Amino acid sequence: MQIIDLKPGLEINAAYLVVHKRLQPFKDPSKGRYLALQLADSTGKIEARIWDKAEELAEIFAIEDIIQIVGKVEEFNNQHQIVIMSLKLIPEHEIDPANFIPISHKDIDKLKEQFKSKIETIKEPNLKELFNQLLKNQDIMDNFYKAPAAKLVHHSYLGGLLEHTLEVAEICENLVNLYPELQRDLLITGALLHDIGKIEEFKYKRVIDYSNQGRLLGHTVIGFRIIENITKNIAHVPADLLVGLEHLILSHHGELEYGAPILPQTLEAIALNQADLLSSKLKQAQQIIQNDTDPENQWTNYDRLLGRFLFKG
Ligand SMILES: [Fe+2]
Ligand SMILES: [Fe+2]
Repeated sequence: MQIIDLKPGLEINAAYLVVHKRLQPFKDPSKGRYLALQLADSTGKIEARIWDKAEELAEIFAIEDIIQIVGKVEEFNNQHQIVIMSLKLIPEHEIDPANFIPISHKDIDKLKEQFKSKIETIKEPNLKELFNQLLKNQDIMDNFYKAPAAKLVHHSYLGGLLEHTLEVAEICENLVNLYPELQRDLLITGALLHDIGKIEEFKYKRVIDYSNQGRLLGHTVIGFRIIENITKNIAHVPADLLVGLEHLILSHHGELEYGAPILPQTLEAIALNQADLLSSKLKQAQQIIQNDTDPENQWTNYDRLLGRFLFKG
């Protein structure tokens, strides 16, 4: 049974991927420890608890394993949670872990085509060559088409980076119509590449999480490095154009406290920052509403990141 279909009271016997696993002491420490888990499949995530024999069962499996569980769905703090009675580890060869990672509902092949058509609209010869080189790099492109745009907040599923990238490019296209002074090819290139560092910021083979490099460097710096590596193989890229593009990558988070090493200081950088914000905020709110499992309530739970309740209507 898929996580999206779980309802309180249901007894289940199903296989899920282990995202988090932690032994926690009971309030009364003489009772020992219980096991707090987060489980996932391609439709979502759910908390799970093992109250009895937790320490013994914890030995059987590790994070990123897939386990077959028997348990019951309950409700706790307005959220669904599984109480697990028994479990067994599913051997690696019996199951494909890719089936347990959330993936975009959109048609990835269509998104790839849209990405390539967008690239074809770039006429500036140096930027055109940059994309030629990029498309030739199969490793980068395979990861770009697969990567999520975030661990949790927005577009946090396989294909999410591609989806978010196209949204940002489309918003920028509209901004160019409103403000023809914007350097269109530079801005659209920045939009298409602004988050390319996410291909290394995250790991997304079994579970979506930050990579060590991602935590230590962040995707703005990783993206800057990827662009530097590609452009150094292109002869005579005008310095102004390269700096303009690198400024877009480095400043796209808009504020120093949001991880931008530098504030947006060109019209294109201000446009890109706002387009990025719009795509991520709208998707963030949409995901919170979609993941809300309480049909009785017109409002979502309080979301700490957004600092508000959202109205579902
Ligand atoms: Fe970003
Ligand atoms: Fe972004």
